[in-house]
Amino acid sequence: MKILIFGHRGMLGSELMMRLQANHEVAGQDIPEIDITSYDACRQAILSIKPDLAVNATAFTDVDACETRREECFAVNALGVGHLALICRDMGIKLVHFSTDYVFNGRRKTPYAEEDFCDPLNVYGLSKLEGEKRLQEAGCDHLLIRTAWLYGKNGKNFVRAILARAETDPVLDVVDDQRGCPTYSADLSDAVGFLIEGGHSGIYHVTNSGQCTWYEFACRILKSSGILDVEVRPTTSDKLARPACRSPYSVLNCEKYFRDTGHAMRHWTEALNDYLSVIRKEVDLKS
Ligand SMILES: NC(=O)c1ccc[n+]([C@@H]2O[C@H](COP(=O)([O-])OP(=O)(O)OC[C@H]3O[C@@H](n4cnc5c(N)ncnc54)[C@H](OP(=O)(O)O)[C@@H]3O)[C@@H](O)[C@H]2O)c1
Repeated sequence: MKILIFGHRGMLGSELMMRLQANHEVAGQDIPEIDITSYDACRQAILSIKPDLAVNATAFTDVDACETRREECFAVNALGVGHLALICRDMGIKLVHFSTDYVFNGRRKTPYAEEDFCDPLNVYGLSKLEGEKRLQEAGCDHLLIRTAWLYGKNGKNFVRAILARAETDPVLDVVDDQRGCPTYSADLSDAVGFLIEGGHSGIYHVTNSGQCTWYEFACRILKSSGILDVEVRPTTSDKLARPACRSPYSVLNCEKYFRDTGHAMRHWTEALNDYLSVIRKEVDLKS
């Protein structure tokens, strides 16, 4: 297949480029060569590349900044998605798009399934839900993949942030009242490949398996990295008082993905170990 990835320099987009290039002809478009909030720019890109499938890995992902930069956030996460969906519908191209656990309010205590009621708690979640609606209403063939707590080789992420803070701070306060599932973007990219190659459409939840709080995640990152002289202290979201409200429970039920593809997502601790060895190799190469 000829695949066009929008946002191919982002954390997930760059991983998708690598994964999909193994079996397909892949092109990428990102800022500055394209701004997906421009309908004409999107149409021009799709017309000139003529892909069989388009993947939208762009997003305005700074969850706290979304609270004050609402217009920009909705332009990318909702309006831009609508543009791509309408163009793909008109040209008969399937569109793969990503959404988030933050479309749910987190009041449940069991993993969210694809058809569960959406009720976002913050502007980022609202904008992503609006993007989902525009994608579905456009009527193009689509694959909508909700994922959560991503980390990967490129871009800012929680694992790198904890390792960086551990270099200077002997004590780290990390919230223990938000539960989810950390997901390695390399594993998610493999799953996207299986879904695309299997011809699947509709909504899928895809994360690594298992669950933890950010506090438990931070403890595991340090322990698995052999950093034993930094203390991690559990704290609460109230004490941290970040601009955007976060869901207390955002574990996604990924059974549909397993049922339809036959591929199980590995446990988050196993994926984390792989990622940490990738980071160690980077450090070795630099020194
Ligand atoms: N990160 C997570 O924890 C997480 C969790 C759940 C779901 N997701 C979803 O997963 C997808 C990928 O996220 P990610 O973490 O890989 O995001 P990311 O690293 O922030 O990458 C997004 C890419 O989109 C680009 N972009 C932003 N605005 C654009 C525009 N107007 N036109 C064209 N490109 C634009 C960004 O460029 P700049 O860097 O120059 O802005 C960046 O290269 C998103 O749909 C996100 O909502 C992410």
